[in-house]
Amino acid sequence: MQNSSTSLVILGATGDLARRKLLPALFQLVCKGMLPANFRIVGMARSQYSDDRFREMMWQDVQELSGLAARKKDWNAFARHLHYVRGDLQDLEAFVGLGARLEVLETETPPAHRLFYLSVAPALFPAAVENLGHSGLAVEDTGWRRVVIEKPFGHDLNSAEQLDRLVHQVFKEEQVYRIDHYLGKETVQNLMVFRFANAIFEPLWNRNYVDNVQISATEEVSVRDRAGYYDQSGVIRDMVQNHLLQLLTLVAMEPPSAMDADSLRNNKVEALRAIRRWDMAQAAQNSVLGQYGGYLDEAGVAPDSRTATYAALRLYIDNWRWQGVPFYLRTGKSMKKKVTEIAIPFRQPPHLMFAGETGETLNSNVLSLRLQPDEGVHLKFEVKAPGQGMGTRSEDLEFHYGTAFKDQIIPEAYERLLQDALEGDTSLFIRNDHILEAWRIVEPLIKESEGVAAGLVQPYDAGSWGPEASKGLLSRQGHMWQENTGSH
Ligand code: BG6
Repeated sequence: MQNSSTSLVILGATGDLARRKLLPALFQLVCKGMLPANFRIVGMARSQYSDDRFREMMWQDVQELSGLAARKKDWNAFARHLHYVRGDLQDLEAFVGLGARLEVLETETPPAHRLFYLSVAPALFPAAVENLGHSGLAVEDTGWRRVVIEKPFGHDLNSAEQLDRLVHQVFKEEQVYRIDHYLGKETVQNLMVFRFANAIFEPLWNRNYVDNVQISATEEVSVRDRAGYYDQSGVIRDMVQNHLLQLLTLVAMEPPSAMDADSLRNNKVEALRAIRRWDMAQAAQNSVLGQYGGYLDEAGVAPDSRTATYAALRLYIDNWRWQGVPFYLRTGKSMKKKVTEIAIPFRQPPHLMFAGETGETLNSNVLSLRLQPDEGVHLKFEVKAPGQGMGTRSEDLEFHYGTAFKDQIIPEAYERLLQDALEGDTSLFIRNDHILEAWRIVEPLIKESEGVAAGLVQPYDAGSWGPEASKGLLSRQGHMWQENTGSH
């Protein structure tokens, strides 16, 4: 393949995602020698820049925004792969110009492969896809053509279906790479390794032993400068429909027979299909929505906005493995701490032999998979406290990536995903049936929260753990949010 050439075209190359995530990830991949020979990145955006000016701007951004300690020498070697084309995504001529530029740059003998990355506002996805089609850039004549589509894929079920139809007029499903960056996180992939490379957990991974499952992705940051997008979107579209439901499927799915894309993605969709559907009243009963204090003062937020910035949900999965086990999901902005964690409290021992001795009930075992920060795994269990009697205390068996893999830096999610897309591995990308199924699950909640019940969005203090009522969502079932996250 030495003679083939690969072009990665970033549509929206001067936007936030490209500057914060994509360019730094590509830089890292080049430094690690993990990208194909004869590789180039072509950025396209509306402003006029020369290649050199674009390279210089990206260098500034990578230093300021990504937290990478990049050396100029390495950057210069990387920057040779960077090019820039001016163009408006709504303008077909711009795509014709892009095609002409690509042909000039692709001097190697064919095949000339091209990956188009839609790093733009979702409102521009349809125009970009249509223009890729009309300009002939999606035709696989001289090499493969692939398109990466960022989240959110659609604004609701209806718009996702429409976008899907449009995408399929231009690309075949196997050319489409729908991204959820959570799937690129090392610790999220470790979830699969944890479940399927260890024989001792899988026998416990069901309704007979698991009491409930808690998936938390709390964030300290507010909506910052993204209020314009966020106020239209809200927490359900921004985090629940995608990232949280992804995590849920990885916990809940049946073991796939192989790690190929189809086996994995079939089982994930199957888990989603088993989630009990709500009507709007049930959506209200099984959720708590909140908005942080000060949200209405953020620039770009409507003064009377009822957009939820926090959500806690209780879901049930109607199948043999999970019947009756509540899956609690919570996520929010402006909360006390950034923690992404899956906590699995197991059932209480059937007979509390020691409870009488201490006068207390025993704590149940809790397995916590910490996805970020301080990535690792904890297992809480009871030990005998030294001394007379049989008093017990909870202790943790702990594994931390930071100590076990001291010299290794956990790669950024986008590194993995970009590389997989270039290699044609779709395992960690979302298939269209998954996206639509996920919309079906959250749609009643979106309708509920945006309709007559918008008043149900409860205030919570910025820097807190969310609305008080989210505790009630669990306590009604005899559960409580796990303390491992440091949340109480
Ligand atoms: C994005 C959301 O998809 O994920 C953001 O749009 C959110 O609102 C982010 O902050 C969280 O990602 P991470 O990797 O920081 O957990």
